[in-house]
Amino acid sequence: MSDLSSLEERGLAELKACSTETELRAWKTRYFGDRGDITLALKQVGTVPQAERRAYGQKANQVKEFLNSAFEDALASAKRQDLERSLVSERLDVTLPGRWVPTGRLHVATQVLRQIYAIFADLGFQVYRSREVEDDLTNFELLNMPPHHPARDMWDTFHTTKPGVLLRTHTSPGQIHVMRECCPRPIRVILPGMCYRYEAITTRSEIMFHQVEGLAVGTRVSMADLKGTIIAFAHRMFGEDRQVRIRSSYFPFTEPSIEVDMDCIVCGGKGCTLCKRTGWLEIMGAGMVHPTVLQNGGYDPEQFSGFAFGMGPERIAMLKYAIDDIRLFWGNDLRFLRQF
Ligand code: DAH
Repeated sequence: MSDLSSLEERGLAELKACSTETELRAWKTRYFGDRGDITLALKQVGTVPQAERRAYGQKANQVKEFLNSAFEDALASAKRQDLERSLVSERLDVTLPGRWVPTGRLHVATQVLRQIYAIFADLGFQVYRSREVEDDLTNFELLNMPPHHPARDMWDTFHTTKPGVLLRTHTSPGQIHVMRECCPRPIRVILPGMCYRYEAITTRSEIMFHQVEGLAVGTRVSMADLKGTIIAFAHRMFGEDRQVRIRSSYFPFTEPSIEVDMDCIVCGGKGCTLCKRTGWLEIMGAGMVHPTVLQNGGYDPEQFSGFAFGMGPERIAMLKYAIDDIRLFWGNDLRFLRQF
């Protein structure tokens, strides 16, 4: 019995000496583990003489209950102290500004491209992609520009080391690819993609830029359809009250050819620096597909007609957001890109 009393005293004293949760857990194993002192003391009940066994058993259980509940109290208070310590030493200032989480976004050119896709999708145009590395035949010849044709001067070209292979200067060769693939079915597609020109880089011209070509071919496609399509596009892209003006122009692959202007979004036509005092901004070239081009695409020009147009999404973005330098698009300056 006196062993039990001193066990209780020793246990309590050692428990008091523990200051961390780890120490407390070690104490618990020492006393309550498989070969712990309390466990052993309880096992000894059987060896105690019959007369004292009952009293011994009771006392052993009391000691066990007592130390166990002392342990639970000590553990709880150690945990509380740990929490208080961490609240003080690792204090969180909830008034601090949050940490900046970097998020990606679409490039402004991609955003405008997607707006163009959405508008033409509503008008029934599908997206057709074609290659950026072209041959001379498709980029020029089949578009009605034989070798040495002076109109080729409109497109300064990057040639590869392989003769006849070049970087497309416009998306128009895609017209040939899509016609040859679809002929003789009717066509209504846009052809977006990157184009390349061997030009001096200035605020208004780049060596690489996107274009979005449009092509509609059918048995009764007219200039009126072209006009309606362009006006619908200008209204959706720039606002319902935009005025559209059509001027006659020249492209080898269309006849007649036109250029399309829109009244200036800044001055509304009065004349300002954006429109260079003309009141108008050019938004695209277009026309009725030349009979030779239709034929090169596999369509009989006696039976089929078509319209085509080509626009520059970077130029559209420049007009829409008053961006005054085309070099900003590929300059990778986050101060510019983050504005969109
Ligand atoms: N391909 C022309 C260019 O790069 C733009 C163009 C003009 C495309 C008239 C057309 C068109 O489809 O009909 O300048």
